[in-house]
Amino acid sequence: MMKGCQNECPAGGCTGGATKQASESFKAADLIINPATTFKEKPDPSGLVFGTVFTDNMLTVEWSLTSGWEKPYIRPLENLSLHPASSSLHYAVEPRGETEENLVPMVWLNEYTLFEGMKAYRGVDGKIRLFRPTLNMDRMVRSAARATLPCFDKEELLECIRKLVEVEKEWVPHSTSASLYIRPTLIGTEPSLGVKKPTKALLYVILSPVGPYFASGSFNPISLWADPKYVRAWKGGTGDCKLGGNYGSSIYAQREAMELGCQQVLWLYGEDHQITEVGTMNLFLYWENEDGEEELATPPLDGIILPGVTRQSILELARKWGEFKVSERYITMSDLTAALEENRVKEMFGAGTACVVCPISKILYKGKNLHIPTMENGPQLATRFLNQLTDIQYGREDSEWTLLVS
Ligand SMILES: Cc1ncc(COP(=O)(O)O)c(C=O)c1O
Repeated sequence: MMKGCQNECPAGGCTGGATKQASESFKAADLIINPATTFKEKPDPSGLVFGTVFTDNMLTVEWSLTSGWEKPYIRPLENLSLHPASSSLHYAVEPRGETEENLVPMVWLNEYTLFEGMKAYRGVDGKIRLFRPTLNMDRMVRSAARATLPCFDKEELLECIRKLVEVEKEWVPHSTSASLYIRPTLIGTEPSLGVKKPTKALLYVILSPVGPYFASGSFNPISLWADPKYVRAWKGGTGDCKLGGNYGSSIYAQREAMELGCQQVLWLYGEDHQITEVGTMNLFLYWENEDGEEELATPPLDGIILPGVTRQSILELARKWGEFKVSERYITMSDLTAALEENRVKEMFGAGTACVVCPISKILYKGKNLHIPTMENGPQLATRFLNQLTDIQYGREDSEWTLLVS
């Protein structure tokens, strides 16, 4: 078993061990495809609310400690039937709705639930592409290890996902400002109240067409609330994995941000109020640093930052361009306020699969509104990243970062 895998994974390791893992994972070659025979109407992507419409089919694979992985299935999307003691339904955070009047259905999220978020894009040439999907598979396997859920062969899951998207290809929007969101999920399903490693699990993948993140077609900058009273992640915790509990517990702070007139939370950490992430995005600061150097900075992967696919892509592009310093470094609120007073900040933006990049124009901190001059500065750099990444995703530029679905 590889170091770091605490779930006695029969697959022999979660971080890429090819041999034993491959033989004990489910296999895409065993996929049983019994697709839906009735079809839902496909919506106009411009009017979609994120994550509310789902395609006709889903992928499911069951696992148990005694039998290992069963064969994967592509089958009509349907409700899950779970024992009420299922481990993924307990030891919980109860997220609440945005307002008391608008409570979301009560859901329980905990460390027996993990997920990924990736997209399929229909290119200008009509071909469907995934963007760096192996990075999502790597992250999902790391999350599985952290959640004591079973490991699997990343390539086999990716091939199953590719097949699912192929079956559902008509659901990939015919638009270069929309896409098909892919949500791989892994949950513990053991019918037991014991707080222990589950002996049963279910991996499933559902698909949801999503419209343009920026409805106007151009950047809409966001305002942030920065207050150390809520913490998204901590050293030794699970913030660097995509576990359900990280997200459920953040909704309360998000609601307070909105009550204060801000759109997202700027997550701070530690006595010195380090800037970590924004909402569910990684954060970038483009500025003239303390030494007078032009720098693109983002916090380092020290255990409390989710290693975003977009973050990694932005860092790699910027390093390839070689036009300014690119750093993974700590940035505190006092670094930022000093730079704002000295007019050294050029742009601040969030980065993630949902929007690629999202400009930041205001931060409410210690009762004061800090104006961030991102929009006044173009935003030149954020726009360049947006164009470069979407050119790759929609096939306007050839890249090794894409995987063809069909
Ligand atoms: C906490 C957090 N940070 C950053 C990201 C961005 O990651 P990615 O670029 O892989 O979408 C996400 C998105 O899933 C996230 O949930």
